[in-house]
Amino acid sequence: MGVQISPSILSADFANLESELARVAGADWAHVDVMDGHFVPNLTLGLPVVERLVQVSPVPVDVHLMIEEPDRWAPGYAEAGAQNVTFHAESAAAPVRLARELRRAGARAGLALKPATPVEPFVDLLPEVDMLLVMTVEPGFGGQPFLDVCLPKVRRAREAVRAAGLDVWVQVDGGISPATIERAAEAGADVFVAGSAVYGAPDAAAAVEELRALAAAAC
Ligand code: DX5
Ligand code: ZN
Repeated sequence: MGVQISPSILSADFANLESELARVAGADWAHVDVMDGHFVPNLTLGLPVVERLVQVSPVPVDVHLMIEEPDRWAPGYAEAGAQNVTFHAESAAAPVRLARELRRAGARAGLALKPATPVEPFVDLLPEVDMLLVMTVEPGFGGQPFLDVCLPKVRRAREAVRAAGLDVWVQVDGGISPATIERAAEAGADVFVAGSAVYGAPDAAAAVEELRALAAAAC
């Protein structure tokens, strides 16, 4: 599949989300961060908003659920038409059952790991998911500095996917910018979330293309 860029609308203008999505029409995905104020100390948006974003987005919607009880809430996002739904390993009660449910509803299933969550306990679950999200900041806020300490986990995740002979994407999220994306790509990531580096740039479309070129050259 090659390099994919998923701009996070967390750093976009929340009063103008339709036009903000249009600015990243050249990206591969639109990353939508759902935070519930419990799993992370921040609150963003939920299903009614995502239902509309799916309808107006020029690119597929990549939902990142930072919520408690994803087993209860995540399938609704797949049913709403989000083409990827990622839930956190730390809050899922039955990750295999949930991933199967998401796939049955027509979405890709993503499994996310916070910086202190090891990948090893989840290696046997890889055939059940389409993407592993290795967080490169503590989830909750945009604009935080990239955590280089997470790179060895990106490397181990990529190696586990390769050893299993699977086509599971490895996504990184947090602090991705022109200054860090090459390190993440070199470690084995292939899907890159970027919020402030895209929406904080004067030309969001150009920022997407710059990130894509840097990652492609570093893979
Ligand atoms: C953080 C979110 C990210 C956030 C990334 O918890 O999951 O998607 O938008 O923002 P940047 O790219 O600014 O670090
Ligand atoms: Zn995210």
